Amino acid sequence: MQKVTKAVIPAAGLGTRFLPITKAVPKPMLSVLDKPTIQYIAEELLSVGIEDVIIVVSPGSDVIEKHFGRADALEQRLLEDGKTKLYEIAKQTRRFNVTFVEQKVANGLAGAILCAEPYVGDQPFALLLGDELLHAENGQTPCIKRLVDVYEKTGKSVIATMEVFGDDVSKYGNVGVGDETDGIITVNGIVEKPSVNDALSNYAIIGRYVLSGEVMGRLKNLKPRNNEIYLTDVLDDLTRENKLLASCFEGERFDVGDKFGYIRANVEFALRSDEIKEQTAQYIKELAKGL
Ligand code: UTP
Repeated sequence: MQKVTKAVIPAAGLGTRFLPITKAVPKPMLSVLDKPTIQYIAEELLSVGIEDVIIVVSPGSDVIEKHFGRADALEQRLLEDGKTKLYEIAKQTRRFNVTFVEQKVANGLAGAILCAEPYVGDQPFALLLGDELLHAENGQTPCIKRLVDVYEKTGKSVIATMEVFGDDVSKYGNVGVGDETDGIITVNGIVEKPSVNDALSNYAIIGRYVLSGEVMGRLKNLKPRNNEIYLTDVLDDLTRENKLLASCFEGERFDVGDKFGYIRANVEFALRSDEIKEQTAQYIKELAKGL
């Protein structure tokens, strides 16, 4: 089976839910604690040894490129001052081999993925949406590793899924599920953000995928609907051909493209930080008394 060596991170959305900060600061540079969200996502790839990362950005996102590049003066200064730990932190992002590609017009997720086509061609690729963080604790298998393992075992495209309930069903793409073996689920239907009554199951599609080499070509040849192309249309075709699987994941998902999800991520990462967890816990306990 062909190994997965490339990853695409679409991060070119307008981020309108975060205006006004996203007027001048690209959404992927919003930080959870002290790290931009895009760095957390790139770091998920370390678990699978994928080094070639294609980040799709909106025009004017040079600051993201800067974040993944060298900071000579700063690094030199930290070394001279003997601040080796901070030096290591400052150069962490340089380990990735990142290609930046601009999505000139924000015409949707599928349009963003297609911008990476010249770099992916007909190879399988991991797809990680730029505004979801998937956090695995020590001992848990990171979501993207799980998906790469399933792809490399079966040769079929695989999407990450989680169970959702009540009205939340309508917030996500939804899959109909068939047999399950060793946590690998057969997908037998797919609908985009269904009403609660039209949902096929409680399984929602989340922003992590490993897609086979034929997917880029299929996206390229897709006929637009309402002047837009949709990844769901390709996934739908794969489903009908029995070529799509789903898998649950270990760990926790944070939707940092949403205000509450973003605050939740900051609070939970603060509670996991050696530096400020005690202070944060104390503060939350005090605060809760008055709520
Ligand atoms: P969203 O649906 O969250 O859209 O995109 P958005 O523009 O980022 O944010 P809002 O809704 O205006 O606040 C889901 C993912 O797809 C990427 C986004 O960057 C995000 O990671 N995306 C979306 C693109 O790369 N290009 C697009 O044209 C649209």
